[in-house]
Amino acid sequence: MSNPFYITTPIYYVNARPHLGHAYTTIVADVVGRFNRMLDREVFFLTGTDEHGDKIVRAAKKENLSPRVYADEISELFRQLWPQLNIDYSAFIRTTDPAHIAVVKQVLQKIYDAGDIYFSEYEGLYCFGCERFYVERELVDGKCPDHETPPEIIKESNYFFRMSRYQDWLIEYIEANQDFIRPERYRNEVLSFLKEPLEDLCISRPKSRLEWGISLPFDDNYVTYVWFDALLNYVSALGYPEGPLFKKFWPQVQHIVAKDILKPHGIYWPIMLKAAGIPIFQHLNVHGYWNVDHSKMSKSLGNVIEPLELKNVYGLDAFRYFLMREMVFGLDSGFSESALVGRINADLANDLGNLFSRVTAMAHKYFKGIVPAPDPHGDPLLTQGLRSDAAVAIREFETGMSGFMFHKALMAVWEFIGQMNKYIDVTAPWVLAKSKSTSKQLETVIYNLLEGLRIISGLIFPIMPETAASMQRHLGQDPGKTFCSMSFLSQWGGLVSGTVIPKSVPLFPRIDVSKKENETAEEALPAPDRPVFKPEISLEEFKKVDLRVGRIIRAEAVPKAKKLLKLEVDLGENRTIVAGIAGSYSPENLVGKQVIVLANLQPAKLMGILSQGMLLAAVNDNRCTVATLDGDVKPGTALS
Ligand code: ME8
Ligand code: MG
Repeated sequence: MSNPFYITTPIYYVNARPHLGHAYTTIVADVVGRFNRMLDREVFFLTGTDEHGDKIVRAAKKENLSPRVYADEISELFRQLWPQLNIDYSAFIRTTDPAHIAVVKQVLQKIYDAGDIYFSEYEGLYCFGCERFYVERELVDGKCPDHETPPEIIKESNYFFRMSRYQDWLIEYIEANQDFIRPERYRNEVLSFLKEPLEDLCISRPKSRLEWGISLPFDDNYVTYVWFDALLNYVSALGYPEGPLFKKFWPQVQHIVAKDILKPHGIYWPIMLKAAGIPIFQHLNVHGYWNVDHSKMSKSLGNVIEPLELKNVYGLDAFRYFLMREMVFGLDSGFSESALVGRINADLANDLGNLFSRVTAMAHKYFKGIVPAPDPHGDPLLTQGLRSDAAVAIREFETGMSGFMFHKALMAVWEFIGQMNKYIDVTAPWVLAKSKSTSKQLETVIYNLLEGLRIISGLIFPIMPETAASMQRHLGQDPGKTFCSMSFLSQWGGLVSGTVIPKSVPLFPRIDVSKKENETAEEALPAPDRPVFKPEISLEEFKKVDLRVGRIIRAEAVPKAKKLLKLEVDLGENRTIVAGIAGSYSPENLVGKQVIVLANLQPAKLMGILSQGMLLAAVNDNRCTVATLDGDVKPGTALS
């Protein structure tokens, strides 16, 4: 294995218990780590706790504990939480680790020796919550934008880091490296901040005021500012400067943070690295806030949600799926339990869960639970469509995952789940099963569906590792690394015919909202049926779609297929189209109707009839309504 990949979360303050916000960032890192393992990369995933500073001293005092004992306790809560959320980290760093302390001192000394740290008197506005000085223009109504409390005026002699010297370098660096900070809104935010002169950073606190910190190596009367200490965890954990991990993984690193700590990561950190002569990290990935009732969920506002409670009520994978699907990485999201229940019922119980039980039940019913062999001499059209749908899903999934657009990656998988469900409706295996003459087709159809499930199980693995493993076991596989590797997933036909598949279990039971206790009727209502939109396409892509006005000349039922009608449609030329609308239309009511036809769809054979196009229709509660035009138009006219 080569191609090292390093992913980090912020190291969390130990001044309160972990909540949903911390869980989100750490689950994102886990998902990205797992995805990169699927690409056969060697992954190092770092998380940990940030333990020095004022904030921690004050929180410890409240509990009547020493900072060290208090930090030990809370750090342990984080460390124990992550495995319960199936977070597979490689190392857990604490800023109180002696090895970390040694690195911080070493880097401070290096920058001091290089002349980028100087001593001076300073008076400024200080927020104890953030542990940093603010300049007037950063305040909102005279208050800290994060803590909504007024800062205090503090005057003292301190050490300063000459950040101003690196301002032009940083602007150029960000401009030259397009997605160094992403998504783009945060890159722009940093660049716009850098339009104002950058002030030097106060990096010390006198011990008379704060003892709980790392002593400056060049002045024992001071400890270092918590951010200077904390940011260095990303290299100290790798054994900077000489450790083999550092040599292997740095600077191939993806940092993940929320926008609250954009400035330290987007400005202080690259400048610290530059000043210390360390290569700059690869990407800073910035996400928005989980809000509750329109305010940021935070320990200081006291509106936090406990991840374990949600896990215990709804199951871990459903919780992980919700976080990854619901939040557009970079934007804020509102958290509500009803939205969570809505997604579980619609996406997991309905779409994925039903597909899985439908397909495995048919494999048992028609083939006694043994994976059939696709017919090598059969009609290739029976496989081609589904196979290319799978290829598209895999490609879009990869693009979404590598670009931190997780919701898009998942939408691509769910698009494929929809196509699988449609494939069942169109091929109607229960009809194929009725006659010996179609038994080969039945084998191909069921094989293709099981193969589709294999691909889905691999694609959901980073987000829902337990569900992926369960699906794989129920496809007769030993869930493991190979089964989830992207290269194996990308090869159609990975499922071996003859494999015995065990009897299935429901993947996601529906949550009966009316039965949930402790909820008012209103809260218990499922989220309104929001449409799930497909991933964006360009105008160029849309232009490839050839939509034409058609007129139905003839319509007749297809023997043995309850849902299908065979239509003769005038598109300027006559085409045969097989449409799954028999449940909603009788043939005689269709003749003469003006319709919209997708004219350049790859032809497909349905019940032995070659269908050369598709009618546009809306499907709602199993009822089909054919799209038509608001006026008489010549057959063959293009729509755009
Ligand atoms: O800032 N929504 O630690 P911290 C989304 N120790 N993410 C949230 C969130 C919310 N409502 N609330 C918290 C610190 N987070 C420093 C970091 S790194 C060198 C030092 C997540 O405990 C999010 O990742 O305040 C955010 O950036 C982080 O927790 C802040 O954690
Ligand atoms: Mg914070």
